Amino acid sequence: MNQTIILNNSMEMPLLGLGGYRIGEQDAPAAVETAVSSGYRLFDTAPVYKNEEYIGRAVSRCKIPRGKLFITSKVWNNAQRLGDVEGALERTLERLRLSYLDLFLIHWPVPGCYLNTWEAMMKLQEKGYVRSIGVSNFNSHQLKEIKESFGIYPAVNQMEVHPLCYPRHLIEFCQSNGIAVQAYAPLGRGAYLDHDVLCVMGIKYAKTPAQIGLRWAVQKGIAVIPKSKNKEHIRTNARIFDFSIDPEDMALLDKLNEDYHTASIPEDLQDVITYADLTR
Ligand SMILES: NC(=O)c1ccc[n+]([C@@H]2O[C@H](COP(=O)([O-])OP(=O)(O)OC[C@H]3O[C@@H](n4cnc5c(N)ncnc54)[C@H](OP(=O)(O)O)[C@@H]3O)[C@@H](O)[C@H]2O)c1
Repeated sequence: MNQTIILNNSMEMPLLGLGGYRIGEQDAPAAVETAVSSGYRLFDTAPVYKNEEYIGRAVSRCKIPRGKLFITSKVWNNAQRLGDVEGALERTLERLRLSYLDLFLIHWPVPGCYLNTWEAMMKLQEKGYVRSIGVSNFNSHQLKEIKESFGIYPAVNQMEVHPLCYPRHLIEFCQSNGIAVQAYAPLGRGAYLDHDVLCVMGIKYAKTPAQIGLRWAVQKGIAVIPKSKNKEHIRTNARIFDFSIDPEDMALLDKLNEDYHTASIPEDLQDVITYADLTR
């Protein structure tokens, strides 16, 4: 049901996962349980979401063997500045109750830090604490810098992608260089769910606008991590592998791009990174 994508280190990553931002202590058990029973195997969290502990506890109770789950977390900006990547990972693993992560991402490209962070992450991968390493919110120049410095591209670039935010050049750059694109805010945090084009297409395919938006991404080979704490949303967001969108409708959806970003750049990076920077 839940298809996968092969990363540049031959590891498999599910195309669908549950986004963890704003899933708190109250909601995590039911959200994770519903997700698991709906076929989700990937769970995305981060120290800055302050819920690794709750996601970890819920995942530990889900009765799916560890090897069949895919757990992602990230290193936040403060740990990058302090050069404390290993310590940050240790704390993340402790909170998640895990001995390894499937994917460890640099959450934001902190200027002057991200190359050192990447080097530290490569060592953690060698030691077996993380299976795959990747980045988030990186532009093509920053990705090339990693390749030039270390000889390899990140396995994943997690970035904002949905029909109203379609950074086509960056996606093409990633995909042509074997970097898997994982879409965050793939529902645009609700921004396109009442858009006429998606509503009309929803009727045509007997799907919801959310399913159309998610399908549009996975049909391009882009992984998606919609967040929901609502059981019905979690279930319906998973039903995106049983239909396909016609090429002419895909082209129509491609044209909806407004460079509309939902996620905000952290305050401590605003002076040095703009959204234009991120999509170069
Ligand atoms: N790397 C980064 O910098 C970064 C930045 C942002 C996000 N992320 C990751 O990406 C994940 C997803 O992004 P996001 O949480 O920002 O936004 P999103 O997944 O695009 O949207 C989540 C919102 O949509 C609602 N929703 C979910 N399914 C729905 C449906 N079928 N119909 C109507 N509404 C629905 C949710 O409410 P309910 O809970 O009520 O369903 C929630 O309010 C995050 O949780 C996080 O893991 C990463």
